[in-house]
Amino acid sequence: MRCHLPSPSRLATTHHHLTHRHFTVLALESSADDTCAAVVTSSGNILSNIVLKQNDVHAPFGGIHPYRAVQAHQRNMPIAVQRALKDARISVLDVDGIAFTRGPGMTGCLGIGSSAAKTLAAALNKPLVGVHHMQAHALTPILTSAPNPPKFPFLTLLISGGHTLLLLAISVTQFRILATTPDESIGRVFDKVSRLLALPWSAKGPGASLEDFVAASPVEDNLAPSMPRTMPGVLTFSFTGLHSAVERFVTARGGVEALDIPTRRAVASGFQRAAFNQLEEKLTLALSWCRDRGLGVKHLVVSGGVASNSYLRERLRAFVLDLECSQDSVSLIFPPAELCTDNAVMIAWASMHRFVARDTDDYAIMIRPKWCVQDLMGG
Ligand code: KG4
Ligand code: ZN
Repeated sequence: MRCHLPSPSRLATTHHHLTHRHFTVLALESSADDTCAAVVTSSGNILSNIVLKQNDVHAPFGGIHPYRAVQAHQRNMPIAVQRALKDARISVLDVDGIAFTRGPGMTGCLGIGSSAAKTLAAALNKPLVGVHHMQAHALTPILTSAPNPPKFPFLTLLISGGHTLLLLAISVTQFRILATTPDESIGRVFDKVSRLLALPWSAKGPGASLEDFVAASPVEDNLAPSMPRTMPGVLTFSFTGLHSAVERFVTARGGVEALDIPTRRAVASGFQRAAFNQLEEKLTLALSWCRDRGLGVKHLVVSGGVASNSYLRERLRAFVLDLECSQDSVSLIFPPAELCTDNAVMIAWASMHRFVARDTDDYAIMIRPKWCVQDLMGG
């Protein structure tokens, strides 16, 4: 099934058309460790948004346990669908189309949402659309920043436990990866450094607890080790070097118990600053990459769990302010946190243009666990 590439004007008419038809989508997402179902209308009304987390299931393993994740999706998917319809106060017969995450993601996990969606669509005789997970993340600000959405082409930086990605969104179906990471995501590295420094536990998670710990008292910078700069001048993220630097420092001092609180705070602060320096450095490179090609990028969208860090937000606001009078001037958009983490609202939203164009999938469509966001056309 080919996606058509709507030009901006066609998109506008499409959306105009959409508002009249009020197409209602039930979407399912199960690519990683959240079981999600949502009901969204073509006019951008979010009628329900159910996210059933599996944190307790995976916590003892220190990462997502693939088989436990599949089991939890199997348990939770029917509940998520039932609640999404109940919260939306509609019957499944009122749904006009079913969307699901086709990929990328963990094979067994994708299979649960995909089978449920395909079976529902077939039984109800409704159209079906399989969505690319990263495309859905990238299109979220168009929904959340209405009526002033970012205009194509825009930059989107997705920083979470699952992703470290800087994308150029060219159109609804065209994306270019400007930078990603060959190793661990920025969120996971925040989590590890937070545990390495035995920082106080927080209900908001280890990354947020690192931020709070740094902000709680003045930092004595001279106590911290120097942090490496990662691949200067190259559009690639890597945070494992920062993790190793912290690990070496802690080991050399005889373990975390040997570090007093001011030293731990200085290390946490040094790590956090170095991580965000790297984000800014790569953003600068990406903006000049876009300028060299005369792309006219006017918006920078920053989303994902790490984007909830207030120090980062402050830094990025200052970063954008500094660019104000330059050719690289962009406005900054932070979509609401609950729509930056994995959810099915974004899947519903990203399916909408295809439902309207009647470019829908066969009920026999297969999942694509490995699927590059640059290869959406003809996928
Ligand atoms: O997008 P998200 O909520 O979910 C997944 O990716 O699964 O991102 C979670 C990640 C975690 O690694 C968490 O530690 C990190 O985002 N995070 C933070 C902060 N809040 C959450 N990292 C740094 N500072 C924060 N305030
Ligand atoms: Zn995601």
